[in-house]
Amino acid sequence: MANICSLALVVYAVCFSVLIPQATSQPFLFPETQSTIVPDPSTFFAPNLLSSPLPTNSFFQNFVLNNGDQPEYIHPYTMKSSNSSLSLAYPSFSYTSTVISTTPFQPDLTISGSKTITIPDPNNDHHVVSDFDDLSVTLDFPSSNLRFFLIRGSPYLTCFVSQPTPVSISTSHTIVSSSSASGSNTKFIIKLDNGQTWLIYTSSPTDLTASGASSLTFNNFSGNIRVAVMPDAADPKSEAILDQFSSSYPTSGAAVLENSNTLTYKWEKTGGDLLILAHPLHLMLLSNATVLQDFKYKSIDGNLVGIVGDTWVLNSKPIPVTWNSIGGVKIDLFPEIISALRRDVDALSSTELSAASYFYGKLVAKAARLALIAEEVACPDVIPAIRTFLAEKIQPWLDGTFSGNGFLYDKKWGGLVTKQGSTDKGADFGFGLYSDHHYHLGYFVYGISVLAKIDPAWGEKYKPQAYSLLADYLNKDKQSNPNYTRLRCFDLYKLHSWAGGVTEFADGRNQESTSEAVNAYYAAALMGKAYNDPQVEATGSLLTTLEIQAAQMWWHLREGGENQTYEQDFAKENRVVGVLWSTKRDSGLWFAAAEAKEIRLGIQVIPISPITEVLFSDTGFPSELVNWALPALGRTGVTEAWKGFVYALQGLYDKAGALEKIKSLTGFDDGNSLSNLLWWIHSRS
Ligand SMILES: *[C@@H]1O[C@H](CO)[C@@H](O)[C@H](O)[C@H]1NC(C)=O
Ligand SMILES: *[C@@H]1O[C@H](CO)[C@@H](O)[C@H](O)[C@H]1NC(C)=O
Ligand SMILES: *[C@@H]1O[C@H](CO)[C@@H](O)[C@H](O)[C@H]1NC(C)=O
Ligand SMILES: *[C@@H]1O[C@H](CO)[C@@H](O)[C@H](O)[C@H]1NC(C)=O
Ligand SMILES: *[C@@H]1O[C@H](CO)[C@@H](O)[C@H](O)[C@H]1NC(C)=O
Repeated sequence: MANICSLALVVYAVCFSVLIPQATSQPFLFPETQSTIVPDPSTFFAPNLLSSPLPTNSFFQNFVLNNGDQPEYIHPYTMKSSNSSLSLAYPSFSYTSTVISTTPFQPDLTISGSKTITIPDPNNDHHVVSDFDDLSVTLDFPSSNLRFFLIRGSPYLTCFVSQPTPVSISTSHTIVSSSSASGSNTKFIIKLDNGQTWLIYTSSPTDLTASGASSLTFNNFSGNIRVAVMPDAADPKSEAILDQFSSSYPTSGAAVLENSNTLTYKWEKTGGDLLILAHPLHLMLLSNATVLQDFKYKSIDGNLVGIVGDTWVLNSKPIPVTWNSIGGVKIDLFPEIISALRRDVDALSSTELSAASYFYGKLVAKAARLALIAEEVACPDVIPAIRTFLAEKIQPWLDGTFSGNGFLYDKKWGGLVTKQGSTDKGADFGFGLYSDHHYHLGYFVYGISVLAKIDPAWGEKYKPQAYSLLADYLNKDKQSNPNYTRLRCFDLYKLHSWAGGVTEFADGRNQESTSEAVNAYYAAALMGKAYNDPQVEATGSLLTTLEIQAAQMWWHLREGGENQTYEQDFAKENRVVGVLWSTKRDSGLWFAAAEAKEIRLGIQVIPISPITEVLFSDTGFPSELVNWALPALGRTGVTEAWKGFVYALQGLYDKAGALEKIKSLTGFDDGNSLSNLLWWIHSRS
């Protein structure tokens, strides 16, 4: 009887699954969760924006968190929205041996409109984000008819007043003089007691009347008001340039990822030619621009220079995105790598995996590296064991069977969160608050790409989940995937990533590890290769090369530094920036003090892979960096793991010396291995 019953059950189950095949073949794509920790975006985003995924590492993130009243850096100004008004400051910076900081926010100008609409709760009368794009965000103050177009790099702030409204312009300083420019009541000149001169342009004639020592009023104005600080109050040429471009105003700006080395900027605008400021990396990449060399604003990222044109074409160096080392390993060096490889592969079966997404991802990527090293040194017999390990370890995160953690989908912002991170702000380094997504997912994407390469059938089976992890941080647009925001971490004006997520910070966005960011985009390009998807490969390659050049520009600090972005007080003591913030540069790390130079070096090198060579292609820099970090290895408590990264960089100019030190290491970072370090040293030219 028992047999018949169970047979019946089997038959029933088979029929059932044949009848509704979707129920069993529908891919598991990360179930929705109601995260208890993510903030509510509906406070600040206009209702029509809420149905699409929202940005979680954007240049205006502070404007949509908590009270929305912390400043953000919209070059060349810091801007702050509070008390139903918008304030801007043209900041100054201070440089010490440990930190570069921006003067605390103090409004140079504040623009506000009289309220024409009675609102129920005046304490809750805040801005609304009515539009945003890669290079712009629009803030509305509905109760006072104001709309501000915040355009990154624009020397002018544009305020559109939709119907006749008294508009006040005030300052936290004292107004020394204010006047309408000769024969014009569409241009006004305001001098402040801090030495600044501000120009105000209006789209139609009007009067500006004083309403106190630090406040002026447009009585009843509608149309556009544009304000700009003169970069040099004593230079009439900068005034003439600001006059010339004052009637052309952008309302939004977007970047187009054209191919693996070209990015284009385009602005929506009214009027003639646009004037927008370029930072030093833009200037390196701009191909056909009209540059106003002498029209310069200062910024924490280096001088910003005026560019005339409605379209910018940024051409980046094409970089090699390869599975294996670029130069290859000499055959007589294979045996040494192979013997380490056999030991490292054997050890995989006894590896303890943490349930934390970051550490788990690193271990997966470490194992994946072993497979590629095996290919490179012609040791295919170890690959099946690695393939089994990778499949066993990755699958539970893709099919939702991993017990301690896993990926879930947060519909509020539109993105993945981890199970642990969905209830605990600190879990998975804040992954549940959208911190560090490119780091964690980059490691998973690397492991998945390698597994899909060595086992294409596995790759096909898990392609929807693989692409979903990728799209969480590499989604090009809504058409590619409607479930995720566009390029979650990458900043298309700064040309590098941010890691801070939906947390309010007085210093704006931040990123610590550039090498893990590079790894994420490199892994994406490899995923494009693994799935024969040239679009994904091109997007991954473009962001890899941009992230690398931004790291070289703003994190890697050369000795001597006559061309240095940062002043000597900071630059002479630091060969790398620890944490780079929108408006601050720290020498220390989130997890280590400034003295831990080996960790500061290591966190800009980790993980070592074929792309590391491109990241450190700046000849001469590796030895400067290593010589700076070496004395720190004498401290007590320095771990073998971090020493490994110092020696790896030494291998770029001193193979023999580095090899000797590497062979004496007794431990490795959890994402690194002896095989990987030997492969690295032996594949240096
Ligand atoms: C808002 O206005 C109040 C009253 O005028 C003032 O005390 C407060 O400092 C202002 N807040 C900010 C963030 O400027
Ligand atoms: C403001 O301007 C509008 C249109 O120009 C006019 O109808 C209105 O009377 C003006 N209001 C005041 C208070 O001057
Ligand atoms: C640069 O090239 C783009 C694309 O060909 C073009 O649209 C733009 O007008 C050019 N800009 C300048 C300043 O020549
Ligand atoms: C978006 O999410 C839905 C629900 O999980 C899923 O069915 C769909 O396949 C996803 N779209 C893409 C392009 O991944
Ligand atoms: C500094 O810049 C100049 C001009 O671009 C260049 O010739 C020189 O090699 C640079 N020096 C260093 C140390 O990079």
